[in-house]
Amino acid sequence: MRKPLVVGNWKMNGSLKLTGDLLRAIEDGINDKISSEVGICVPFVYIALAVDTVDATRLTIGAQTVSEFESGAYTGEISASMLAELACHWVLVGHSERRMLFNESNQALVAKVLAAQGAGLIPIYCVGESESDYQSGKTLNVINEQVGALLSNKAVNLNQLVLAYEPVWAIGTGLTASPDEAQQAHVFIRGLVREKAGDLADKVRILYGGSVNPSNASSLFEQEDIDGGLIGGASLDADAFISICQKA
Ligand code: PGA
Repeated sequence: MRKPLVVGNWKMNGSLKLTGDLLRAIEDGINDKISSEVGICVPFVYIALAVDTVDATRLTIGAQTVSEFESGAYTGEISASMLAELACHWVLVGHSERRMLFNESNQALVAKVLAAQGAGLIPIYCVGESESDYQSGKTLNVINEQVGALLSNKAVNLNQLVLAYEPVWAIGTGLTASPDEAQQAHVFIRGLVREKAGDLADKVRILYGGSVNPSNASSLFEQEDIDGGLIGGASLDADAFISICQKA
């Protein structure tokens, strides 16, 4: 019912050369064995090149954040309409690195989701608990707050949104939530969506992220409510990324 989706997040890595080479290698690897939709979120400055390099019917390009503002005196910011003009498809919103390193609040993130949707982009809204919240058993409280902020805004269009659960302690650490733990978090998130939007909850894709690699991808993606992955480190290696896509 939900088409699986695998999205790579290159973070602040790459170069002009690597963008072309790696995207071509990934696109070449997308064959009949891959039934999931595939996207890659590249640094802003490589978006135009990335879009030119790939065939959007096979591989779509995204950004890693976006301004909550439409235009104006916001030095250094990039608006959703600028991204849409470049034929960018996805945009990550609320990745834990943005939340933690750049102090992005739930309120600002919901504004970014609305800005992205207003320009026709599909936001991938990321949530997840820190290690200390995990250790103290607060995972569901944190998710409730982060997802709740989004769902309490009636202007958010759930038909044009992807959610991603990424436990912060699993990002770039080699640690992953067990498939069962991840499934429970996804069921909880889908339940929150169901409370607000009824059966639409069955259509919203919820990705898992945090040290997904070719060895652990199958056991995660087999879970009923895990609809694909948000892949950091492994998306910088074409073979590893393709192997993950094959498992979704
Ligand atoms: P990772 O990153 O796969 O390197 O853990 C995931 C992410 O940050 O989205």
